[in-house]
Amino acid sequence: MMINLKLLAEDLRDESADFGDTRRRSLLKVDGLRREADRLQQLFDEFLNLAGPVTLVRTAVNLGGLIGRLGTFLDPLMSSSQVELTIAVPGDTDSENSSVICLGDENLLSQAILNLAINGHQAMPSGGRLRIATGSSDDQAWVTVSDTGVGIAPGDYDRVLKPFFSTKGKGTGLGLSITQRIIHEHGGTLTFSSQLAKGTTFTVILPSAAPDKPAKTP
Ligand SMILES: Nc1ncnc2c1ncn2[C@@H]1O[C@H](COP(=O)(O)OP(=O)(O)OP(=O)(O)O)[C@@H](O)[C@H]1O
Ligand SMILES: [Mg+2]
Repeated sequence: MMINLKLLAEDLRDESADFGDTRRRSLLKVDGLRREADRLQQLFDEFLNLAGPVTLVRTAVNLGGLIGRLGTFLDPLMSSSQVELTIAVPGDTDSENSSVICLGDENLLSQAILNLAINGHQAMPSGGRLRIATGSSDDQAWVTVSDTGVGIAPGDYDRVLKPFFSTKGKGTGLGLSITQRIIHEHGGTLTFSSQLAKGTTFTVILPSAAPDKPAKTP
């Protein structure tokens, strides 16, 4: 960005240059600067999202329905890039009727799982399989997002969840930090397991909604 600004200033200052030529080159640089400013704005917004307080709007969220709708939304992107997408809910029922319920903020949970799915997609530049599954056991609900992509190098395990760690040219490295923040705000956990060149599974565990259940006695 600074280099572009410097070059732009030099072009504009050069009185011997042809005006039309200078104008054309300056416009190109202004376009590049605008794109860069957009990216910084997005980064800043995401950072605020991460640093500021979050207020959860809690309702009983049907996680099967949530991943089913994410699947419908992601389908065109996945099929256009040779990624086979599977949505799995218990009992193979229609996802909207799944029995996997948690108490949480539907929009934020959706954003968290979308971030995981996008990462999975980006880990498979030449196609593969992405599976988003949900289920529950005892007083927990879980969602897994598995890909058959490049995997995470063991040396990066400690860094992937940290803000600004990215191995992608255009990544901000905030996706997983935001996801983890959302899950933690829900009292849940985010873990992963990965094998280089085989794939990665991210697991979200959330306390399931059990409003009528009496508190456990020790
Ligand atoms: N499913 C995955 N497979 C392989 N590597 C992954 C996967 N998910 C995350 N990573 C690694 O973790 C890094 C951090 O992920 P994160 O989502 O926080 O940032 P990003 O995807 O690089 O950028 P952004 O999400 O801001 O666009 C990635 O750059 C990548 O190296
Ligand atoms: Mg990401």
